[in-house]
Amino acid sequence: MRITISVIAFAVLVVSSASGPALADGAGLYVEKSCIACHGANGNKPVMDAYPRIGGQSEMYILAQMTDIKTGARSNSHSLAMKNIMGNVSDSEMAEIAGWLSKQAQ
Ligand code: HEC
Repeated sequence: MRITISVIAFAVLVVSSASGPALADGAGLYVEKSCIACHGANGNKPVMDAYPRIGGQSEMYILAQMTDIKTGARSNSHSLAMKNIMGNVSDSEMAEIAGWLSKQAQ
């Protein structure tokens, strides 16, 4: 029984690692999803004064705001710029990015 489980676990591991690139971490996703284009390096060099600094903010707050901007619960003329790209960011990717951003210096 134990051997069967290890064999299955190994097979799952092989299949999941063979299907496409490894899941990017928060730092990689922050660049890949173009967050960096507006919020700047480490979330703290926004390209416009009207854009917020988000590096070092609490993880829970970052995730809540991303979710609200994605769903449209938070909506204004500035958040619209970000909403467009949020359709391409999954819930697990948002969690990865929020975790990484919260660990950046303010
Ligand atoms: C096109 C520019 C743009 C891109 C790309 C963008 N954002 Fe934003 N983001 C904004 C703007 C502008 C706001 C402020 C909206 C407002 O004024 O309500 C904002 C707000 C936020 C907030 C809330 C900040 C706060 O203090 O309430 C978070 C968190 C955030 N963005 C994270 C991200 C992440 C993570 C990504 C990448 C997945 C991203 N943003 C991509 C422009 C952008």
